Amino acid sequence: MNINHLAIIVDGNGRWAKKRGLIRSEGHKAGAKNLEKLILYISRNKLANYLSLYVFSTENFARDEKEVNYLMELFLKWFKTVKDKYSKENIKILFSGNKDLLNREIVDAIKKLEENTKNNTGLVVNFCLSYGGREEITTMAKKISQKVLDGKINIEDINEKLVSENMYYELPDIDFLIRTSGENRISNFMLWQISYAEFYFPMTYFPDFDEKCLDEAIKEYQKRDRRFGKIK
Ligand code: IPE
Ligand code: IPE
Ligand code: MG
Repeated sequence: MNINHLAIIVDGNGRWAKKRGLIRSEGHKAGAKNLEKLILYISRNKLANYLSLYVFSTENFARDEKEVNYLMELFLKWFKTVKDKYSKENIKILFSGNKDLLNREIVDAIKKLEENTKNNTGLVVNFCLSYGGREEITTMAKKISQKVLDGKINIEDINEKLVSENMYYELPDIDFLIRTSGENRISNFMLWQISYAEFYFPMTYFPDFDEKCLDEAIKEYQKRDRRFGKIK
């Protein structure tokens, strides 16, 4: 069973650090390093066609300013260094989220990365940064309402396909969602796109969730019986 759209809620960086007597930012550093490795692994082994990554929620802005700034610096540094590497790997980068809440430098780096990789035809990596699932749905509702007001479409034209087209990006449904660290919740992640996803909640903190753990997760996915309401 092929995974078209894989998603990971990257969680447990802070607890990973705490367990080792380190400060939370060390956990984020280790998490970022692991994420880089996993993206290449997924791309090179063609484990999925789309990969959505929840790396910073709109709610995460409520954290201590120092932690938020550290994470933003980490993202920025990373965006600047991966540009050429991802082009070579044929990876296409997308960003989903509220850019108004991010500083100009990050927004510029995001735009550049999207622009530089837009013609790549390999793995599509969708970074959910400054992202909220309800906000994405609200934004979609505004976009569609505006089209109705402008006379471009009629109310009768609104269907699930049109809703999908008016999300941040028109992405296929998520097939398999992994959330590391043992938390069994969604935390406002891609609410529209997960409607029929298979969930997997390993106890492992994200910095330790390596290629082997991912292989194990995928093996578990292969055992799932996806019925989509039908009887087999
Ligand atoms: C996930 O790790 C990374 C982000 C949310 C940015 P956490 O920072 O949530 O780590 P825990 O859950 O506190 O261990
Ligand atoms: C969800 O993790 C957001 C990301 C992983 C980016 P959190 O650690 O912020 O979620 P809660 O607070 O445990 O629900
Ligand atoms: Mg967390």
